[in-house]
Amino acid sequence: MRTRTLLPSLLMLGTLAVTAACSSGSDGSSASSGARPGANPSPSPVRSVDPSKIKGLEIVSDSSEQSSCPYAASYPDVPGAEAMTATMKKDVEKRLADFRSQVCEGGEGDAEAREFNISYQFLVASGDVLGVRLTTQDASGAGSGVTTRTYWYDGKAGEYRTALGLVADGSQDAFVAALKDRLEGREGVDAAALDDLFSDPASRASVLDGMDFTAVGSLRVTFDRGDVGAPAAGSYLVTLPKKTITPWLSAFGKRVQRQTVKPSGSLDLGAAHVPEPAVPTHTASGDDDTDCKKVKCIALTFDDGPAAPDTATLLTYLAQYKARATFFTVGQNVAAHPGLVRAEARAGHEVGNHSWNHPDLTKLTPEQIASQLGRTSAAIKAATGKTPTVFRPPYGAIDDKVRAATRLSPVLWDVDTEDWKYRDAAKVAQTVIGKTQRNNVVLMHDIHPTSVAAVPQILRTLTAQGYHFVTVSHLRATL
Ligand code: NI
Repeated sequence: MRTRTLLPSLLMLGTLAVTAACSSGSDGSSASSGARPGANPSPSPVRSVDPSKIKGLEIVSDSSEQSSCPYAASYPDVPGAEAMTATMKKDVEKRLADFRSQVCEGGEGDAEAREFNISYQFLVASGDVLGVRLTTQDASGAGSGVTTRTYWYDGKAGEYRTALGLVADGSQDAFVAALKDRLEGREGVDAAALDDLFSDPASRASVLDGMDFTAVGSLRVTFDRGDVGAPAAGSYLVTLPKKTITPWLSAFGKRVQRQTVKPSGSLDLGAAHVPEPAVPTHTASGDDDTDCKKVKCIALTFDDGPAAPDTATLLTYLAQYKARATFFTVGQNVAAHPGLVRAEARAGHEVGNHSWNHPDLTKLTPEQIASQLGRTSAAIKAATGKTPTVFRPPYGAIDDKVRAATRLSPVLWDVDTEDWKYRDAAKVAQTVIGKTQRNNVVLMHDIHPTSVAAVPQILRTLTAQGYHFVTVSHLRATL
């Protein structure tokens, strides 16, 4: 019964729902969320891309830390691929605005069902081609669930391409016929509607918006839940073997296929200027001997990063005041910017775990919770050489199931700056300065330039009042 796994699948942020509905046994699960290199056991693995090798990469993130309005969305900004970034930005912002107006501002609906998440995965970043998949989980809308879309950039032509751009115009009918052939007969597929769906150019482009190549050059086409069948039937994955699909590919599609099967290594999209990543080189001067029993301490915490260039700027501010802090990092961002996480640790800060892509952990199974935290701890260890001991559950959402699924120690907060809501440096600084008391844990986010900009005033004012800035684990250890 294929619907049995539907509900858990919808809530499975780290994993696509496609495998629940696929009879082919094709891969689609771990590959959808930025799988670790070598961690994919599938028979036709999608080659994983190391995002830390992409020069000038920035991750654009937006998230809340409030359980009544839980959202987190990220997409990559790669120098040279501005037209593709603009398309992702438009899509993400529209979906996010819809969610916020319906859930966060409206305030109605079932709190249990409210959560919105967009995560990214690089499909190929090699030669002059770039491919990214965005996976959206929206548990607030009608027909809610997981949807995916792939975005492509052709560095040679200097143009953004849709998934359908992988297929030559003259071969689209043959391509669509082959898909129809493979979909018909699958349980839940509305065969009668397929003709209409595929013959109208607009609906064709909208349905065929998720494609990528496997490591052996086959093309995988993802159909979101409800696209080609009854929503209850879930989503479908069709894989066309290399031999079948290759004659139908566009010139761009052939280059993407080639770079996926055998990556040439470095990505060059012809960007006029690729900024050198700024990674501060501050080094901690030995262990922190602050005794929080004797002096006034504060533990500043910064969530959802690392982010370039904001985290680097923050590290410089903290170094100027010899202040230590704790960073609750998101795994997919650690993978993109391991150098910044290494810089955090080297400067004497604590690096904590904030999950792989910021889901509400209480809505996941114990295995999914362990995976969210385990992958992130592994990424932190790879970057810093040290396994974290603390984690902060996204939205502060924690229960006995989450506690039982990890050995990491949970850290919540005493002072909520709500800096994700108020992008105003002066207001953030005033909140921290006005509300913080001795031995408090303060919640901020280093993905927002306004929050980082508030830090010098916070450090200046509170240092003058006699406060010492320590890590969460140091605070706990000396109290
Ligand atoms: Ni967060």
